[in-house]
Amino acid sequence: MNEARQYKIGLLGCGNVGRGLVELVNRNRSLIRERAGVDLSFTKILVRNLDRERPAVDRSLLTIQPEKVINNECDIVVELVGGLEPARTFIQEALAHRKHAVTANKALLATDGSSLLQAAASQGVQLGFEAGVCAGIPIVRALQNGLVGNSIQSIAGILNGTCNYILTRMIDGFEFGDALREAQDQGFAEADPSLDIDGHDAAQKLKILSELAFRGNIYPGSVQVRGIRGITAGDVAAAHQLGYAIKHVAIAEMHEQTVSLRVHPTLLPQTHQLASVRDENNAVLIKADAVGEMLFYGKGAGALPSASAVLADIVEIASQKRPEMRVPDRALATEPLDHTGQSYVRFTVERATAIGPIAAALQERGVTFARAANWAKSQFKEKRQISIFTHSCASSTLQSALRQISASGVLRGTTVVMPVAS
Ligand code: HSE
Repeated sequence: MNEARQYKIGLLGCGNVGRGLVELVNRNRSLIRERAGVDLSFTKILVRNLDRERPAVDRSLLTIQPEKVINNECDIVVELVGGLEPARTFIQEALAHRKHAVTANKALLATDGSSLLQAAASQGVQLGFEAGVCAGIPIVRALQNGLVGNSIQSIAGILNGTCNYILTRMIDGFEFGDALREAQDQGFAEADPSLDIDGHDAAQKLKILSELAFRGNIYPGSVQVRGIRGITAGDVAAAHQLGYAIKHVAIAEMHEQTVSLRVHPTLLPQTHQLASVRDENNAVLIKADAVGEMLFYGKGAGALPSASAVLADIVEIASQKRPEMRVPDRALATEPLDHTGQSYVRFTVERATAIGPIAAALQERGVTFARAANWAKSQFKEKRQISIFTHSCASSTLQSALRQISASGVLRGTTVVMPVAS
């Protein structure tokens, strides 16, 4: 057998994913040596606190000085500190030292991905970011390599494990806050969980995937974003009873020369491919001209699934099997989509008579609806709820009716609005 090439990793950050990476390299080092002909080891590991317990991590490698990780004999720098700074500076320094870099940092990729990729290309080194989107699912690689011969038409996915975990727990009757606490305990949620539940994490991932799929740069504000805050176990149960699952869905569609991008909770028929995705799992449904529809499914959060993606980048770069990446330099035109279709709307009202002004505002605009009270009543602990299911209408028309209803003064809390997919 050929001699394995020594390959040294400088690791920045030893939180959940960092410790997962150390564990995975220790566990599968000889497997990787056999498969790829590279022998991986760590030079230095940046931590914030030297005294914290980290089972299986060699304490002699720990440092609190980033330059000791970046400016040493390592071949590749892995950034797992997260956030924009100092992560951005760390990667820029690594590239400036002509080191390859790997990151799982989707927030950084969503804001600076293009300039970091340009910097890597101009230094003749690689920047891997498979772990930035959907953790263990090799979706970046699929778009860059496996589907390179396709023109991509659309992406629809469940891209945030925390939202999906919460919505799954709510089918079992958990309330929102309890389900979120569980997701935090299990380590799926971001340090600031509002990034998950308000939809920004999924929007960042959708932007990264869309730039790869549609070959261009997207202005971050082009994604229409809504999160899952305000959805109750009553909504989830009511949807379930009617044959729907509430899912937080991210969608990017190419229409001729423009892309529309949106992230929001949606009622999916239980027969839809994304409806059965449970817990912290993610799924991405790609539609492309040659392969048709293709579904990628797996763990989208967690230490080992993320470490698996980081390790895939390291091994590909180390074994020099990575195709050169061409960084697109055009801006993609984007347009918001005025969704036309059915919607689920739940109002919180002072009195049951509020149905009068609600119905009037909708009927004035030609929006017909079915009252969902019969089936929803038993689902809501809070009695003063009116749920409706509109027939097909433009979302701008529905929004105009909702503004009128809100101005009429009959509402007493947040109105939840979700499109219903067919
Ligand atoms: N907070 C993220 C999620 C982690 O819940 O999907 C993985 O990106």
